[in-house]
Amino acid sequence: MPDSPGHPRPRLHAPAVELPTDQELVLKVIPLPSDTNANGDIFGGWVMAQVDLAGAVLPARIAQGRMATVAVNEFIFKQPVRVGDILSFFGSIKRIGRTSITVQIEVFAERFSDQGRYIKVTDALLTYVAIDDQGRPRVLPQAAT
Ligand SMILES: CC(C)(COP(=O)(O)OP(=O)(O)OC[C@H]1O[C@@H](n2cnc3c(N)ncnc32)[C@H](O)[C@@H]1OP(=O)(O)O)[C@@H](O)C(=O)NCCC(=O)NCCS
Repeated sequence: MPDSPGHPRPRLHAPAVELPTDQELVLKVIPLPSDTNANGDIFGGWVMAQVDLAGAVLPARIAQGRMATVAVNEFIFKQPVRVGDILSFFGSIKRIGRTSITVQIEVFAERFSDQGRYIKVTDALLTYVAIDDQGRPRVLPQAAT
């Protein structure tokens, strides 16, 4: 529930972490009040949509053409996201198959009132498939050589 007089929301104290140095920054975005759920935190579906966009960045380089998300293999909401957080999405390729690419996305929040400290808020694993003009799986360029 939102904060109300005498009933403040409990604040979770997650440890600050270092940003990854072995992954690529694929997206930065700040959620708005219009992205909140009934609790006043950011709606999980909004976070999932951003992760899906961020997740496509590295596979797109490999697929060199049309792609579709075939699976969200894992999605963990570790900490709530709040209005005004600066979110950083880091990606790393986990598997390149014949037609598919699996990528891990880690999301870190820099709280609006606590700049310079990063909290890990989300961890996800997604798989994208290269597709042809008819929407059928397409062999990746590097797998075809
Ligand atoms: C993506 C799509 C074309 C794949 O077609 P398909 O007939 O299921 O494909 P296949 O069974 O041949 O699998 C294709 C690849 O996806 C992988 N794959 C399929 N299901 C998977 C799953 N649940 N998890 C991980 N990988 C999966 C396969 O292992 C294969 O990879 P590989 O060739 O690298 O070994 C089809 O499922 C589709 O159109 N889905 C809807 C996509 C969509 O609308 N996404 C949301 C909006 S982008």
